[in-house]
Amino acid sequence: MNNLEINKTKYKTILINLGNHSVIAIIALIGIGSATRVMEAGLACPDWPLCYGSFLPASHFNLRVFLEWFHRLDAFLLGILILTEFALSLVWRKNLPSSLPKKYSLLLFLVILQGSLGALTVINMLDSFTVMGHLLIAFLLLITSIFINQNLINKYSKFSNKWWRLLLSIPLFLTLVQSIIGVRLSSTWSAHLCLTFNEKCMILDSHKLFAIPLTFSILTVILVSFFRENLFINNWRYLLTIFLLLISQISLGVLSIKTNLNQPLIIIGHEIVAALLIATLTTLITRISYTNLENSSTKNNLLIGVN
Ligand code: HEM
Repeated sequence: MNNLEINKTKYKTILINLGNHSVIAIIALIGIGSATRVMEAGLACPDWPLCYGSFLPASHFNLRVFLEWFHRLDAFLLGILILTEFALSLVWRKNLPSSLPKKYSLLLFLVILQGSLGALTVINMLDSFTVMGHLLIAFLLLITSIFINQNLINKYSKFSNKWWRLLLSIPLFLTLVQSIIGVRLSSTWSAHLCLTFNEKCMILDSHKLFAIPLTFSILTVILVSFFRENLFINNWRYLLTIFLLLISQISLGVLSIKTNLNQPLIIIGHEIVAALLIATLTTLITRISYTNLENSSTKNNLLIGVN
């Protein structure tokens, strides 16, 4: 291997590692965001971007202020991480795929948009549509990060099995729609209203109903893979993961209703599992699923785009 090749591999590895950290940070951020909402801490810091006019409002700390402050701090650190990835892709552009800076600039745009929506949620006093937009952008950030990372990990960028990726896009799309309905449900307090006063039940009913086509689409993907032995053998860990996540998600949804939405950990878990489902489906779509390329490094890939 000559010097140029060594540098290429080194730079790629650094960016893949940073990318893995971004993916984990985004999932953590979604979890912390959910905890902030469940604990009704979304307006615990009255100003933005500082909290009580300070970067570290230690004298105002209680659980709610801490959650909202930590959510912002984590988002800030994620922004720095993505900015670093973008800057490095520019500095090392001669040794990396030429499209990389463009891809990172999209990620940077999404993170700036997300920060602005975060500010809007405070200004608009947690308006439901702003909260929905905020979660949608969080999921788009997650999808884009995994997509960029998998493109770096995959040695061969030509994918032959387009139909498989298309088939996987259906549950991914349905999970996104289901999650948006879920946030509408929580941000309008409709689930509480329905369970307590039997009012505004339409959104909760739609959410329950929409789980059926989503379940069906995931089961179809798994079933189809059984008939293509190579597909199943190369992806069984991911397929098993989406199956288990789906079962957990439905169980958490049912449990949250059974406990009258009184258990914060169940609601937070429900949102984290939604994020994990989106992350695993995206990884399945973007990784090389048929490895007749025997020497491909993807054989040893771990879950969620982590090499
Ligand atoms: C199968 C796929 C599902 C996905 C991807 C999904 C996703 C979500 C998401 C992202 C939220 C918003 C959470 C938040 O803002 O904290 C939510 C809320 C909710 N989901 Fe689901 N969900 C699914 C299935 C179900 C099922 C089957 C049920 C019940 C039978 C259910 C019951 C609920 C309830 C009650 C809420 C509102 C929680 C609140 O008001 O705090 N979900 N869902």
